[in-house]
Amino acid sequence: MKKKKRIAILTGGGDCPGINAVIRAVAKKAIYEKGLEVIGIEDGYHGIVNNRWRNLEYNDVSGILTLGGTILGTSKTANPYRYAIRRGDKLEFKDLSKIAVQNIKKLGLTCLVCIGGDGTLGIAYRLFKDGIPIIGIPKTIDNDLRGTDITFGFDSAVWIATEGIDRIHTTAESLHRIMIVEVMGHKAGWIALYSGVAGGGDVILIPEIPYDVKIVAGKVIERHKKGKRFSIVVIAEGAKPRGGDIVIQRIVKESPDPIRLGGIGFVLGEQIEKITGLETRTVVMGHLLRGGSPTPFDRILATGLGTKAVDMIEDKKFGYMVGVKSNSLVTVPLKEVAKGPKTVPLNHPMIKAARSLGTCFGD
Ligand code: F6P
Repeated sequence: MKKKKRIAILTGGGDCPGINAVIRAVAKKAIYEKGLEVIGIEDGYHGIVNNRWRNLEYNDVSGILTLGGTILGTSKTANPYRYAIRRGDKLEFKDLSKIAVQNIKKLGLTCLVCIGGDGTLGIAYRLFKDGIPIIGIPKTIDNDLRGTDITFGFDSAVWIATEGIDRIHTTAESLHRIMIVEVMGHKAGWIALYSGVAGGGDVILIPEIPYDVKIVAGKVIERHKKGKRFSIVVIAEGAKPRGGDIVIQRIVKESPDPIRLGGIGFVLGEQIEKITGLETRTVVMGHLLRGGSPTPFDRILATGLGTKAVDMIEDKKFGYMVGVKSNSLVTVPLKEVAKGPKTVPLNHPMIKAARSLGTCFGD
């Protein structure tokens, strides 16, 4: 009997709603339609370096469409090219890429499907250059990947953030307060912009438009004078004041991208309260945006991306990622993704639309 071709699936970076939906789509189509053998690498690139993987049968990926997180586990620190090893207080980095490549080769893979954001896909591109047949699938709540109009996880994060803003709205209105809602997004303002618009934020602050705190305070006072005794400010964790800097919450030395943002909402809240004299509270939505079940949109997107990736395996389209351009699934060179984050363009129609309604961007 002819030996079945084998593929592996790896999930890297932060988890987000929809990863399991992609794992399911890739594995089910590979097994059901293409007759392939599928294995799952455990905990992202840790599993590659340490040879940790398991078989994925059809039943293993059944019933996970709606499940948050990733059944394979993931890691935001594992990088075979700069593998962090901690001994007590001492941290050293080793290039274990040769071991990683050997381990993958021993698995006899037709393709390694890497599901991840810029970090994971950047490493995938290096592995591809080192001779591994790789196909990427874009994943991140931040929607900041080049080469694709949208990433799965984003819609779910926007949905959760919007739900949060809606709930904040009623308490803000009842107690006549200024409520600052800080949302994730890393160095890009996609989540803040979309949830800010969807939640009717009076002020939306994104990293791409440095803000002037006096202008933000001015907007709040103007609303107050007009009888709106509350205001909602949606701020991206990566936002910064004009001439000022981002707020770093912590440095994760082991991580390829060590900076963790968070806390700018508190800084702004204090300043606004001081200038306006109005009672202000800050809520950080943080990791809540990464949890729970994917929205129908993300489930559909994940299914489309996952099944397209399997077609790409058949076409030997290695070194590419599946992406979305103008509502169609396309293939994009991984090289493109590795060029850096996709931020919100200043002429984005949603910024224009929000401004036309009187929404303040702090500039
Ligand atoms: O990239 C996804 C993301 O959730 C960002 O929005 C955020 O800046 C970062 O990850 C948080 O990282 P961690 O899970 O390490 O705190």
